[in-house]
Amino acid sequence: MTEQVPQTLRIDDEASLPAVRRAVDEAGRSLGFGLVDQTKLMTAASELARNIVLYAWDGKVTIEHSAGAGRRGLRLTFEDGGPGISDLERAMQDGYSTGKGMGLGLPGAKRLAHEFFIDSKPGIGTRVVFVLWRR
Ligand SMILES: Nc1ncnc2c1ncn2[C@@H]1O[C@H](COP(=O)(O)OP(=O)(O)OP(=O)(O)O)[C@@H](O)[C@H]1O
Ligand SMILES: [Mg+2]
Repeated sequence: MTEQVPQTLRIDDEASLPAVRRAVDEAGRSLGFGLVDQTKLMTAASELARNIVLYAWDGKVTIEHSAGAGRRGLRLTFEDGGPGISDLERAMQDGYSTGKGMGLGLPGAKRLAHEFFIDSKPGIGTRVVFVLWRR
């Protein structure tokens, strides 16, 4: 399969998720991630993409290589123009959910990442950056 990085994929409903998983899987493999890192990547990508479907309804993910200080990795940027998160500090804590979830998606993705940034503005949207370096 042809690997295209950087690549941006729209996330607008549950049916978008398999394509996102496939693209992230391919990008990780092409960088030579091992099974453990590949699993971390897929878990985080699934959670962050699913959050867009559940809470923002429409957004996108950009998959790109990341390089610096002699290392290579993968950067996933999830962006949406949804309602935003009014209390980001709480949203980053285990167990906080405004829906029916376990409230583990965001804090879990952060724990899996080597670098994790989240920015959210109520009424404007949310942007999450997840980076995993090749070890
Ligand atoms: N993209 C987003 N836009 C708006 N709100 C969001 C977004 N992502 C997360 N949230 C808010 O942050 C809360 C915490 O998200 P998190 O993924 O940690 O838990 P959850 O989705 O509720 O449950 P789980 O992921 O464990 O199934 C959500 O309940 C939701 O209120
Ligand atoms: Mg979630």
